[in-house]
Amino acid sequence: MKKTLWLAAPFLLLPALSAQAQSSEFNLICSAQAAWCNMLAVTFEKSQGVKVNMTLKGSGEAIAQIMAERANPKTDLWFGGTGDPHLQAAEQGLSMEYKSPTLPKLHDWAQKQAQQSGYKTVGIYSGPLGFGYNTELLAKKKLAVPKTWADLLKPEYKGEIQSANPASSGTAYTMIATLVQLMGEDQAFEYLKKLHGNIGAYTRSGTGPIKAVARGEATISISFVHDGPGEKAQGFPLETITPSDGTGAEIGSMSIIKGARNLDAAKKFYEWALTPSAQALGAATLQFQLPSNKETKVDPRVPDFRKIKLINYDYAKYGQTAERRRLIQRWEKDVNSLPR
Ligand code: F6P
Repeated sequence: MKKTLWLAAPFLLLPALSAQAQSSEFNLICSAQAAWCNMLAVTFEKSQGVKVNMTLKGSGEAIAQIMAERANPKTDLWFGGTGDPHLQAAEQGLSMEYKSPTLPKLHDWAQKQAQQSGYKTVGIYSGPLGFGYNTELLAKKKLAVPKTWADLLKPEYKGEIQSANPASSGTAYTMIATLVQLMGEDQAFEYLKKLHGNIGAYTRSGTGPIKAVARGEATISISFVHDGPGEKAQGFPLETITPSDGTGAEIGSMSIIKGARNLDAAKKFYEWALTPSAQALGAATLQFQLPSNKETKVDPRVPDFRKIKLINYDYAKYGQTAERRRLIQRWEKDVNSLPR
């Protein structure tokens, strides 16, 4: 009798203990577009019963916040944004090693992102860099569609192009890293100086330029081309193109923050976000990056990588803290300080 009681007691205690260990909320920084982030939060809350306290931040701003919280992390999980600052977080010991059992179901590029970071981040989507253009404005101004990086330097595009600022935007940093890999660093900076003369405005967020182009506030944007079909679907006269001389792509990533106070909930979200049904919420909210889980249904509007001339982007090198910082500082000093 005594023995039975001893055995039964821990069993009876189990639900109470595990309920205590499971956090009922967690803090998320989401660096994808608001519609997708909101849908992720609402669906996760409803289906998993865990409250999501979400902040929206661009890739560069997210890493700045996570670095500032180093001694006392408030963020538990960081979803989305370009992979380079996620690799930077891994290198600086700001994210936690976690090997998801779902890894074998992911595309090679997503698994490689995990391996390269010592399993401190993982790829959740990918998308190529290119140009967006407003078809009506181009026709009205009698301008040709730019087809190469060199085309963007043509005098007739002066003031017509928008790009994001690399200090706040992972998209713009991807552009710099792509050009450095395509042309060599000094030539890439000569190119960026000339391009600067044609830029009408630099925006804080990476999606700012393509939204401005869609709405007729600028003619051409340097953007991830997966952000085009969503604008087009809303009725804007927008098309995208990838440069025929080659381009880079991002590996949008996800990381659990080291020292996360709500670790169970963060892990639960992480696993959920890698499932095909959660990844399908991207296209459901008009976000057309290529999802990392091979079983996720791919919307026909997702850019076809086989038709794009992609460079062999060195994610490890350009995700290093020192490299990223150096290139952004050089851009500030050599390019952004010049008059336009
Ligand atoms: O959410 C759209 C998107 O293009 C993502 O694919 C990308 O990771 C993110 O924006 C980058 O945003 P930012 O350039 O503002 O850091």
